[in-house]
Amino acid sequence: MADMLRRLALLVAFCSVPPRAAADPLRDRALELMAETPLIDGHNDLPWQMKTLFNNQLNTVDLNTLANTHTNIPKIREGRLAGQFWAAYVPCGTQYKDAVRQTLDQIDLIHRMCQKYPESFMFASSSQDIVEAFKQNRTASLIGVEGGHSIDSSLGTLRTMYQLGVRYLTLTHSCNTPWADNWLVDTPSESPEHNGLSDFGLQVIQEMNRIGMMVDLAHVSEKVMDQVLNQSRAPVIFSHSSAYTLCQHKRNVPDHILKKVRDKKGIVMVNFYNDYVTCSETANLSQVADHFDHIKNVAGPSVIGFGGDYDGVTRVPQGLEDVSKYPDLVAELLRRGWNDSEVKAALGENLLRVFREVEKVRDSLNGSWPDDVPVPLEQVQNTCRTSYGYAPAASGAVAASLGPVLLSLAVLLPRCY
Ligand SMILES: *[C@@H]1O[C@H](CO)[C@@H](O)[C@H](O)[C@H]1NC(C)=O
Ligand SMILES: *[C@@H]1O[C@H](CO)[C@@H](O)[C@H](O)[C@H]1NC(C)=O
Ligand SMILES: *[C@@H]1O[C@H](CO)[C@@H](O)[C@H](O)[C@H]1NC(C)=O
Ligand SMILES: *[C@@H]1O[C@H](CO)[C@@H](O)[C@H](O)[C@H]1NC(C)=O
Ligand SMILES: [Zn+2]
Repeated sequence: MADMLRRLALLVAFCSVPPRAAADPLRDRALELMAETPLIDGHNDLPWQMKTLFNNQLNTVDLNTLANTHTNIPKIREGRLAGQFWAAYVPCGTQYKDAVRQTLDQIDLIHRMCQKYPESFMFASSSQDIVEAFKQNRTASLIGVEGGHSIDSSLGTLRTMYQLGVRYLTLTHSCNTPWADNWLVDTPSESPEHNGLSDFGLQVIQEMNRIGMMVDLAHVSEKVMDQVLNQSRAPVIFSHSSAYTLCQHKRNVPDHILKKVRDKKGIVMVNFYNDYVTCSETANLSQVADHFDHIKNVAGPSVIGFGGDYDGVTRVPQGLEDVSKYPDLVAELLRRGWNDSEVKAALGENLLRVFREVEKVRDSLNGSWPDDVPVPLEQVQNTCRTSYGYAPAASGAVAASLGPVLLSLAVLLPRCY
């Protein structure tokens, strides 16, 4: 009997040892570091999954059991995902149509996610909120709007989105806006329209600096990267881009830009999408770690972050199948000799540094007035846009000075196709 009990005890002891923990002390160390410093990811498209799978009917979804997505609440817990910029993304096909409304719907969806799962998500709109959410063991949930088409060339819309909690704007998605060129102009498939940013594009940057919204350079053309790094008063981010030297895809960041991002005290958050990691359909965790190593070697550990692009892509690397796998990547960085402070920088300290500096620049500019100079009408002419305000109805000096072209535009009836 005693012998049988002893054997039973041995068996229980053996079975209760988690094999991975026993096998990989570096993974344990990764979890310890992630308990001290929040992992903040720059880009996740779960909101767009909610749109395409459920038409945003969150009441019909349970994020605790949702399957077939990269992201759900148990995976978030397992992956120690402490802060997430959720993408309020709407496709370029909405440009000149209902982009603003569709974006508002995605912003509303993110707020509703936080309301429905308050024990898991805390809505966050400041660097301090991220720290507070981490203390409360909840995932800080921030909003990033992906694509300048979402503001319909309106600084009023930009400011209003800030009021709704939006804390970064990706200047373009994969289409030009009336004021900025996207990455496709660096490929044979499109030609530059603005040679980077237009004058109004520069107004957008200055207004983002003034109100405290981070400028995201993922998806823009190389010229735009250069100009914004030159002109922005605050550090900038790449919310989900990898290293061009390792995979020559124009969505990635070339070394000379990495160095300018370092000089600007900004950050590049590494994208895990296979096509950007290896320029092929297959990739693995170790090849993602190569991008971390490369950026660290070229620009230093203060320039790096995580920007998984989960639920925004169709192919993710072996070993990084969903958001539960971040600790494995952190363990791999430790295995490659990253020290604790380098790992913590990449996990979240770099992003927090950028965010705090953006807030500081905002506070230093709070004596300046909002920019109320509208985009020139001729730059945004389309069949769905009215021209109220541009050409006052009253005749006389003002109307005369506007000239016949604007007047004739003002009386065109808008037609929407
Ligand atoms: C955080 O939450 C998880 C899951 O809800 C729980 O297992 C863990 O013990 C919590 N940690 C702390 C420090 O409260
Ligand atoms: C950067 O700014 C300087 C001075 O304002 C200017 O001379 C230079 O051409 C700018 N470079 C780019 C790429 O915009
Ligand atoms: C990742 O892929 C590369 C290239 O195919 C291969 O050399 C390497 O062994 C793989 N690493 C792992 C951990 O599977
Ligand atoms: C970690 O590495 C950095 C260089 O990236 C170095 O400055 C720092 O002293 C190192 N920290 C420790 C604790 O070794
Ligand atoms: Zn994207």
